[in-house]
Parts: sequence; structure tokens; C-alpha cells
Amino acid sequence: MPITINAGQRIFKLDTPNTSYICAVSDEPGYLGHVYYGTRIVDEDVTYLLRTAENPYVPSQNRRDKLSFMDCYPFEYPAHGTGDFRECALKVRTEEGYTACELHYAGYSLEDSVSGPMPGVYGENGQVLTIELKDECLGLKVLLKYTVFDDCDAIIRHTEIISTGMTLYLERALSASFDMDNDGCELITLNGTWARERHIDRKPIAHGFQGVYSGRGETSHQHQPFLGIVSKDCTYISGEAIGVNLIYSGNFYAGVYEGQFDNLRIMTGINPEDFEWKLGAGESFTTPQTALVYSKEGLGGMSRAFHDLYRNHLIRSTWKDKARPILINNWEATYFDFNEEKLLAIAKEAADSGIEMLVMDDGWFGRRNDDNSSLGDWFVNEDKLKGGLKKLVDGVNALGLKFGIWFEPEMISPDSDLYRAHPDWAIAVPGRTAGLARNQYVLDISRKEVRDHVFKVLSDILDNANIEYVKWDMNRPLSDLASLELPADRQKELSHRYVLGVYELQGRLMERYPGLLLENCSGGGARYDAGMLCYSPQIWCSDDTDAIERLMIQEGTALVYPLSTMGAHVSDCPNHTVGRVTPFETRGYVALAGTFGYELDITRIPAQDRAMIPGQVKMYHMYHELVAAGDYYRIASYSENRLYDSWMCVKKDKSGALLTFIQVMGRANCHSRRIKLQGLDPGKTYRIYRFDMESVSEQPYGPEKAYRGDTLMNAGIIINSLWGDYKGILLHIISEGS
Ligand code: GLA
Repeated sequence: MPITINAGQRIFKLDTPNTSYICAVSDEPGYLGHVYYGTRIVDEDVTYLLRTAENPYVPSQNRRDKLSFMDCYPFEYPAHGTGDFRECALKVRTEEGYTACELHYAGYSLEDSVSGPMPGVYGENGQVLTIELKDECLGLKVLLKYTVFDDCDAIIRHTEIISTGMTLYLERALSASFDMDNDGCELITLNGTWARERHIDRKPIAHGFQGVYSGRGETSHQHQPFLGIVSKDCTYISGEAIGVNLIYSGNFYAGVYEGQFDNLRIMTGINPEDFEWKLGAGESFTTPQTALVYSKEGLGGMSRAFHDLYRNHLIRSTWKDKARPILINNWEATYFDFNEEKLLAIAKEAADSGIEMLVMDDGWFGRRNDDNSSLGDWFVNEDKLKGGLKKLVDGVNALGLKFGIWFEPEMISPDSDLYRAHPDWAIAVPGRTAGLARNQYVLDISRKEVRDHVFKVLSDILDNANIEYVKWDMNRPLSDLASLELPADRQKELSHRYVLGVYELQGRLMERYPGLLLENCSGGGARYDAGMLCYSPQIWCSDDTDAIERLMIQEGTALVYPLSTMGAHVSDCPNHTVGRVTPFETRGYVALAGTFGYELDITRIPAQDRAMIPGQVKMYHMYHELVAAGDYYRIASYSENRLYDSWMCVKKDKSGALLTFIQVMGRANCHSRRIKLQGLDPGKTYRIYRFDMESVSEQPYGPEKAYRGDTLMNAGIIINSLWGDYKGILLHIISEGS
């Protein structure tokens, strides 16, 4: 099994197929230290790496220099106030206002089943190690939880904090922390803004603190709860990479602190800013889980480990491994200006083209003719949809299409019946006018009565018609924080309670409608995180549907999240966000890297584009399995070379692969390009076919010959120059005999 414990020496070794993670307890008084995280090793006793001899501290022999010991020991879960002056994982305040805390080892336990809190990982082939730490003065118990699966190169950590004696206030309670040496490491984070989410940033790690966080109540467009700590020579193919990804959908904190001895402390958890949790005697607090991944196959290996972990042990939906219906969403087609006739016309044309589901976006309820009103009034606008929702859904079903619907359940418009009835349900500080964003407020769904109301109106709609898909949107951050139900010393719990409320609601929804396909969304991709993936197998990646901007968004997203989770649609041009015109064909190739769908008025797009849709539908059916279930390899990055982009999806048994190549910029006097494939079986022989959009068939590509996998991966293939900008090509690499 993956976890080995040397109880005598108090060494804990967690092995995954290719990595080892080791922590151990120092001599008296027993501090838990981080020893090693890297390539799998056999020896467990590598405790010399704790370097306790350099700054010895053994209270019974030498009490003189405790603080120098505390300030350099590689604590596995560092606590504030007793001599470790670096950033810490835990800060606790007593009712008197004292904040000193010191954690000593108190024991361990091991379970052979994984049934952690939601959101979190699951699976039968895993083990959970609990290491117990204690602060006797505070009556505080800290349980460090480590989950490991035998099929996955990831360590999942979280922490449970229990007050056994007195009331305590958690000012900071991170999910995980660990220390390592900085050997010229670089830090990768994913940053952006609305319509430009998750672009990759990389920079050398310097002394002091560096990191990212959200204080918006959601994950945010701006930053991701992800850290990549990589060796200087790390590429997509080689070098060392540690990935840290918090499984959480609210205010997060992810940072690295380089201390005086060039050692790094890597931390992640709930953002301590504006957070506090009151722990009465006997109460406990459970942090979100965080996934750690180590790869010595560079960023590619890191991504593949995250993808496998999330596909096999996090996403729960019954749609997890199924082909998602190709949907057409009416947002960019009509915005608020639609009625049942228009939707049925779109559905009719879509059905004729092979599209499988119509999604009715914002604007179908209350008096919602623009974004100024009606959020909260989840009853159908019969002026728009004459005869009601069921009639429309039945009409769409009769055309052979499934039906999906948009909600923004967490919101309330000041101009809504709901607000007029319950103004106190909106988050606002009494006596202060709360700030609007998109002319809306946020419902305080930390309150049960509010959640119960939201669930009831949602299920009334879902029970009323055959709705098979829900897009759950969230279009503004939280501000002006106050919850009318919480006492003063619990107000700082609101942001976390809000996120727990979202989880509870989505959990309830999926329990009641297990076959429902749920897609999360937040003004595009502001809630693209592993927490949401527990409830929805796909998330709308970005409101930017431009194929070229998407190359960068999807590259950053795929660094951590499986391609099967990336909501991606073909839209009309000039693109509504950037005004760019790209070939319809290329838009299809880029959307194929995600869930694949359409976001356009199919009755009005140019006839030659419409004519291509049946072929694209076929393309999706031919290749979606490779994309959704395969291993992802990055071949070239447009964000680095500014000329072209390329990625591969390789079947787990290496019998086939799909290569996408996008020539973003044509170049004068341009040669063909040689690219090296990845992920194939070196000993297998493969043939290469191009997907031809015109004939909707595969045609041999390049010299008509069979190549060995090692030739394709080391010597490479030639991609002929494609005439023009924004051109793409799709190659299917098939092993002989398969
Ligand atoms: C958000 C979503 C869009 C669309 C609009 C509707 O911006 O990201 O896809 O649903 O809301 O208002």
C-alpha cells in the first residue's frame, strides 16, 4: 500500500507510483518536519534532511537557543507566535487575545478508505494517513490528513482543527504547508482578467513572500489557487515541477516564502485576510483539500497527474466519462432579445446540422430584457416565451434536441419581486449602501432559509419541464460583507460559509437530479476550480470565445484541469469580445480541445459556415474520446513563440493520438515546420492522417509510410506551411493494427 510508517523512528512515507513524500518527527519535544517530496525513493530514513544538528534544540539539554531552531526547522504545519517568524499555516487567538501556538506530535492513524469531506477526492484504491499534533496549553488538536491513491501521482492534504478545552479563534487555518530548499526555482501562477483568464506567468522566486490570492468571495478571473514551483530548466517535457492546487471555490491564498537560508515554504488554503473562525470547546474546523503533484517530466507530467487525479478521483457527475451532448447556446446569438419562435428556429436549424442540445441563456425569466432587473424572479417571462417553459422544452425535444437552461441562483436584482419581499437577503452592511455590480447584489446563501428558497425555485423550474442541463452562473464578486444571522465574533466567517452554502446547494441539486449535466460559470471563468468540479464535470472557460485568445486561456487552464472540463464553443465573427475574424474551421479545432459546442445564431451565420457544422459534429464524435480521456501533451505554445500553437491527446494505450496545430501568424517566405510528437509508444508503428474538413474524412498526411513512435517523437514530422493567419490542421496518428 502507498503509505509506510516507521512508528519507532516516527517517519511517515507516502508513495505514489513515481513520487515519495516524507515527513518525520524530531526528538523531544517532537516537532513534525517536512523531509522530502520528489522522485520515488526506497529509503525512508532520510531524516538527516531535517538538519536538526545545525541548530540543535532539545529542551531537557539545551533551552538557550530555541528560537533559532524554530526559525529554521522545516515545519510540516507551522504555527504562529513561538519563534518561527516565517509565514505560518496556523494562527490561533484565545479569548484573552494571546496568539502563541506550538504544535507537538501526538500520534497517527491510518484508514484504508477515502471518504473525505465534500468537495474532495474519493476512491477505493486509496489510504488516508492522519497525523495528530497538539498544543497542550490551548487544548488544541490539529489533524493533518494525507490521502494517497495507488494509481495517481498526487498527495491530497487537508487539516482538521479541534478545540478540546476553550473557545479559540482561528485567524489563519491553511490547508497545507511544506518546506523545501530553493535551488533556483521559478514560480508559475495563472492570472488574468475577465475574458482573458488563466494566462501563464513565470518568474524566478526571490526572497520574501510572493503569491496570489482572491478576496472576491469566488476564485476570480484574476488569479487561480494554483502554484507551480519548477526548476529553472523545466519545460513541458523535462525538468522538475511541483504543482499545488487548492480544491476550493472562494477566497484562497497560495504563496511561497523564501527565507533567510534560501529555503522555501509553500502554502495554500483559505485566504486569512477577512477570515476568522470561532471554535467553541469541542468544535472542529475542516479546511479545504489541496492537491500536490510532483513531476520530473516537466509541466507535461504535472498536468497529466492533475488530470488523472481529477478525472478519476474528484469529478462525480454521471456525465464524467460520457460524451457530452453538443450544445448550442443562444447568449452570443440573441443576448436578451429572443422569444420562443427565435429559439425554435435556432433549434430546428441546429437539429438539422446534428447539434444535440439547445441551451437557453440569460433573459427568460421575470422581466429580464436587459441586465438591470429580475435576478431572483425565477418564473418564466410569458411575454417572451408564449405558452410557458414546458411548451418550449417540448417543442425543442420534438425536434430531437435536449434542452438546457441558465440560472444565476446566488444573485438578486434590486428591481425584483424577491428583493422587494426580502431586501435583507442581499449581502449588505446595515446602514451602508452596498455596492452594485452589473446592477445586482449577492444573496446571503450562508443562510439556510435563503438556500431553501433558492433550491425550491430552482427545483420548481426543473420539475416543470424536461431540462437536462443547467448552466449555473455567478456574475459579481462579494463585497460589503455582513450577514444578519451571524454574531459580531462570527462575521468574518461569512465568505467561507457562503462557499459552503454554494456547495450545499449544488450538492443537493445533484442528489435530486443525478442525471443533470451541470456546467458552472462565473462571468466566464471566475469560478474555474477543482471545488466546482466536484459538482459539475465542466465549467465555462471564459466569455472570450475568440479562437486565438482561447489558445492562451485553454493552455493555462489545461496546465491543471482536464480538457473534458473546459467549456468551449464555436462562435460567430467578428468575435464579440476582440473583433477578430478567424476561419470557422479553426474555431472548431480550438473548441474541440474542450467540451465543444456552439454559441451563435445558426440561422444567420454565413451559409458556408453553417454548411461546415455537420462536418464539425462528425469531427467531435470521431475524436472527443481521445480529447476527454487521453493524456494531454503540449507540443508548442503560442504564448511563448507568438507564431503557432500545438497540443496532442494520446490514448492511454498509445494506439492513437490527435495532434492539433494552429498557425496563428503566417510568415513571408515561410518554411514548413518540424515538430516532435510526444507520448507515443517508441516501439509501435504509426500512420498519419489529416482530418479533411471539406470531405469530412481522414486523408493520408505527408509521405505515405509507417513511422516508428521513436522516430515521430525524436526526429519529428513536417507540418507544411498553412497559407494565412489563424489556420489549423488536425492530424490523427493511428498505430498499425489498431
Ligand atoms: C455571464 C456568462 C455568459 C452569459 C452571461 C449572461 O457573463 O459568462 O456566458 O451567460 O453571463 O448574462
